[in-house]
Amino acid sequence: MDLEYHVEKILWTEQQISHRVSELASEIIQDFTPQNNAPAFVGVATGAFLFLADLVRKIQLPISVDFIRADSYGLGTVSNGNPRIPFDLKVDVQGKHVILVEDIVDTGNTLSCLIDHIKSKGASSISVCTLLDKPARRKVHFELVGKGKYYCGFECPDYFVVGYGMDFAELYRNLPYIGVLKPEIYS
Ligand code: IMP
Repeated sequence: MDLEYHVEKILWTEQQISHRVSELASEIIQDFTPQNNAPAFVGVATGAFLFLADLVRKIQLPISVDFIRADSYGLGTVSNGNPRIPFDLKVDVQGKHVILVEDIVDTGNTLSCLIDHIKSKGASSISVCTLLDKPARRKVHFELVGKGKYYCGFECPDYFVVGYGMDFAELYRNLPYIGVLKPEIYS
C-alpha cells in the first residue's frame, strides 16, 4: 500500500522544510565564524539523520559531524522519561563548541540527558538546533552550556508527527515531509 495513504495530513511540506533549514544554517553561520572555533555537529540518532544531512551541507565552515543515540521511546509514542545512551560520540568534544541537532524536543528528557552527558566530556559550549519543538509537552527544563544558543525550526502542535527522519515504530522516517498519521495506524 502507498505510504501516502497512511498520512492524514501534512504539517510541513518538503519545500517549507528546506527553506527553514536554510534559514537555520544562516543563523548558525553568523554565530560561529571560523575564527571562533568551528563547532561539532552532533545528530541525535536516528530521528535527526535527514535534518543533520541537509543542515550541515549548508554550513560552509570546517565543522565535524557525529551521531549520538538516546533511547527513550521504545516502539510507542510516549517517552519513558529515562533515556539511555547506547551509542556514544566518536569525535572528542573536549574544549569544543557542540551543536546538538534534534528532530523534535518533546518532554525535554532526551536533551537534558544528552546535554549533561556532553557537558561531562568538557565541551566549551552546547547549543541545540531542533527542527521541531512541542512546548506544550515539556516536562524537563534543560540548560544550554556556556554561550550555547537554541535554534528552532518550527513550533509543533501537540500531535505525534512522522516523516523527515521521524518515525512511528521505526516506520515513516523516509517521508520527505512532516505529517500526522491516520488514527487507525497508531492504535
Ligand atoms: P523527549 O525526550 O520527550 O523530548 O523526546 C525526544 C525524542 O522523542 C525525539 O528525539 C524524537 O525521536 C522522539 N519524539 C518525540 N515526539 C515525537 C513525535 O511526535 N514523532 C516522532 N518522534 C518523536
